[in-house]
Amino acid sequence: MCAFTVLFLCYYCWFSGFWFLYFNRVLTFTLISEIRMNFVRRMSCSISGFVKKDLEMSNEYFEYCISMSSPLHPSIVNLLQSTKEELGNKLVSSVQVLMLNQFIIKLISAQKVLDIGVYTGASSLASALVVPPEGKVYSLEKSIKFAQIAQENFKKYEVSDRINLIIGDASKSLEHLCQEGHSGTFDFSYIDADKTNYPTYFNLSLQLLRQGGVLAVDNTLFKGKVFDLDNRVGQQIDNANKTFISSGAVDVLLLNIGDGYTLMRKR
Ligand SMILES: C[S@@+](CC[C@H](N)C(=O)[O-])C[C@H]1O[C@@H](n2cnc3c(N)ncnc32)[C@H](O)[C@@H]1O
Repeated sequence: MCAFTVLFLCYYCWFSGFWFLYFNRVLTFTLISEIRMNFVRRMSCSISGFVKKDLEMSNEYFEYCISMSSPLHPSIVNLLQSTKEELGNKLVSSVQVLMLNQFIIKLISAQKVLDIGVYTGASSLASALVVPPEGKVYSLEKSIKFAQIAQENFKKYEVSDRINLIIGDASKSLEHLCQEGHSGTFDFSYIDADKTNYPTYFNLSLQLLRQGGVLAVDNTLFKGKVFDLDNRVGQQIDNANKTFISSGAVDVLLLNIGDGYTLMRKR
């Protein structure tokens, strides 16, 4: 065998070995990627499977849920009725949200409650009816007109002694509460005022809540507009939701109830 043939054979072996290794690596990489993708597909299928278990909330199901739940106190029903007749019920919290707030307040035996955004007083009344006699609801409202209506309702439904109505911008009122030494003393906070300030209300509520205290936020799906880049309020809510989940200070659960309702527990 001449030197040339030996050289050619060496080169051939090295070259085919190179390609063998190369194809081997490509094949291995493709296989691993495929396995990984399958795993991701299987995981996302099972997650969307869970999501799809939720029922579409038709009026029929909504009414069934309400009729199979402990009934709302007659005072709240009357207040909702008069609000609907006089002002429309666009701004008022959904019935299930009011029930859930009451349920949580009872569950954690909350005595000190924050209600941010009062309107005609439904959420404050709901809270006041379930805190113990020594408990207090701090209700924050900017509009003098709504604060007056709410005050009359609190008198009418005999809960004035359990409600401290603070008129003014909620951010300022919350800051005052912090300065007055209320930090770490509240058990429950419900946020339902202007959406722009949700992150501010979240941070100040967090300061005022005790460890293990619960924060509930209304409208966190905002009419399904959180994906709509052209909807200003939808984007503000999306931004607030991202603030909650990335804060690390709370356990978070966003529920598809009412207009979207997020529950958080201070760690
Ligand atoms: C959706 S309504 C509240 C509904 C109420 N939680 C209920 O259950 O019926 C929002 C309220 O927040 C009040 N509000 C808006 N901006 C505010 C602010 N910066 N500070 C305090 N209250 C504010 C509005 O005047 C309005 O009464």
